[in-house]
Amino acid sequence: MNKITSMKTLLNIALLIAVSVSLTSCFNKKSPNYQYFPNMYVSPSYETYGAYPIFPGEQSAMMPAENSVPRGFVPYTYDDTPDGLLKAKADLKSPYEVNEKNLAVGNQLYTIYCAVCHGDKGDGKGILVQREKFLGIPSYADPGRTINPGGIYHVSTYGLNAMGSYASQTSEKERWQIAMHVMDLKASLLGEPGVLETAGKASAEEDADKIPETTGANTAGEIQNK
Ligand code: HEC
Repeated sequence: MNKITSMKTLLNIALLIAVSVSLTSCFNKKSPNYQYFPNMYVSPSYETYGAYPIFPGEQSAMMPAENSVPRGFVPYTYDDTPDGLLKAKADLKSPYEVNEKNLAVGNQLYTIYCAVCHGDKGDGKGILVQREKFLGIPSYADPGRTINPGGIYHVSTYGLNAMGSYASQTSEKERWQIAMHVMDLKASLLGEPGVLETAGKASAEEDADKIPETTGANTAGEIQNK
């Protein structure tokens, strides 16, 4: 190897080092430097709460379309008027079965939301009434009110005069469960059989209706004994 070639090799090596130093010196490990496919790094899609000029008010988070409802929400069509309450009392029926589980949930929720005014027994003598913070709470057995599940659901959805609405704290199902418990309280205030007993009898009678006369009585008896 002569002197000149070895000089050239040295020069080449020096050049290579210089180039790689200049290429890597600005390298920042925290962010991608060379983007071969830029739109894989910088997504062209819009972020949920981003500001983009194409949206009204430059906000990608927009109001939901008119008439959209949250998932699981059941629209309620009775009006928040005295007439609406009468209609709900006349036509509205609970879609849920009267059973121990629903009644137990209703009892719990009633204690949380309603008992402070209406009292644990539903006699209208809750803690707020005893302390004279709140007056004019009716007993569920008040003959002038003839409360029923549809009406209870209606007033717990909208409220009634001094009583507030419970639609934001409770779901549709929960309000029906509360109504079930309120009907149970009403029955015990009036000294009548509870809702589980009444519902059991009603469904046994219904079943008895479905089967021929001759065996009807027996089967109804069996169901009641279960
Ligand atoms: C802040 C006290 C208060 C609370 C809490 C309360 N209520 Fe009431 N409630 C009232 C008052 C006051 C009335 C009488 C309203 C009227 O007729 O002007 C009433 C009336 C009612 C009636 C009779 C409606 C009718 O048909 O006349 C029912 C049923 C009822 N409440 C159920 C409930 C249920 C269920 C809850 C819990 C989800 C509840 N209330 C929570 C104060 C309350």
